[in-house]
Amino acid sequence: MRIIVTGGGGFLGRLLIKELQEEGSDDLVAIDVVEVSIPGVKTLQGDLAHDQLLPDLLKDGPCTIFHLASVVSAGAEANWEHAVDQNIGGMLQLLEACRRSTHVHKVVFASTLAVFGGATAGAEVGDFVKQTPAGTYGTTKAIGELLINDATRKGHIDGRSARLPTVIVRPGAPNAAASGFASGMFREPLAGLESVVPVSEETIMVVGSAQNTATCIRLVAELESDRLGHDRAVGVPGLSATVGEMLQVLEKVGGPEARALVKLEYDAATDELVQSWPAQLDDARGRELGLPGDPDLESMVRSYVEMISQ
Ligand SMILES: NC(=O)c1ccc[n+]([C@@H]2O[C@H](COP(=O)([O-])OP(=O)(O)OC[C@H]3O[C@@H](n4cnc5c(N)ncnc54)[C@H](O)[C@@H]3O)[C@@H](O)[C@H]2O)c1
Repeated sequence: MRIIVTGGGGFLGRLLIKELQEEGSDDLVAIDVVEVSIPGVKTLQGDLAHDQLLPDLLKDGPCTIFHLASVVSAGAEANWEHAVDQNIGGMLQLLEACRRSTHVHKVVFASTLAVFGGATAGAEVGDFVKQTPAGTYGTTKAIGELLINDATRKGHIDGRSARLPTVIVRPGAPNAAASGFASGMFREPLAGLESVVPVSEETIMVVGSAQNTATCIRLVAELESDRLGHDRAVGVPGLSATVGEMLQVLEKVGGPEARALVKLEYDAATDELVQSWPAQLDDARGRELGLPGDPDLESMVRSYVEMISQ
């Protein structure tokens, strides 16, 4: 079966593709607006929201599409028009290509815990808690989840949404995510560089490792459709941690010299967005469906260290 990964040149897209290759997939297509080169993978450069990239790929038989292409949190907050155009427009293009196809394709949408917020800010959320996002990013993702549910109900696709926690530790250059500091506060000091944390030590975040999150995205595609019912969105397991606890783990893994490289410099805009996200995730449904979680915060950081040393 052909597997298409939109946003395949991004951080999670690349990890997912690596995992799919390890599982034996050999008809892989990565779509990205930036130029991408991945050994053994066909790549298509273009804007999913505006270029007709999918119809030709969907002709030959049922495919699995992992839809990861997105404008991310702070980027969406900074440019509403672009976020709506790319995140909602991209989803509509994708669903329309599926609707017009003669096959029923499986679509796995990378959503986020930022679909929660406002009334549930700082609280525990679960798969059936009302979504009241307090940012444009979460709003576009909540709309995407609803569109996935409806397209599945109509029989246009077999859709699923994986609600991802904040992934740490993201290697390479930071992207426009407001949660980026939660990766930077490990990545930069472990490389001997300074890092700035724009929120207080008491801030709680729901986090997951990159590897576990990529595995969960892949496993959501493998779930039997009937087990999901009408609401196709599943919370991917994540752990709650305060920024203070993350700093303690940094010190444990990288020593006091790494900890000393982190400066706390409050930024109101980032703090407002981060505080609007949930602090606790009831991930019972995801776990019942067989999605694994990370054992603890330290193992997430150690798995990053292992990943960059390979
Ligand atoms: N990393 C996290 O902590 C996290 C948490 C929750 C949800 N998510 C979601 O997971 C997905 C992947 O996240 P990531 O961290 O890998 O982000 P990323 O920014 O590294 O990757 C996204 C990729 O999508 C591409 N893209 C954006 N708009 C596009 C378009 N219109 N057409 C084609 N390609 C386009 C970008 O060029 C980029 O390569 C996103 O949908 C994101 O919202 C990520």
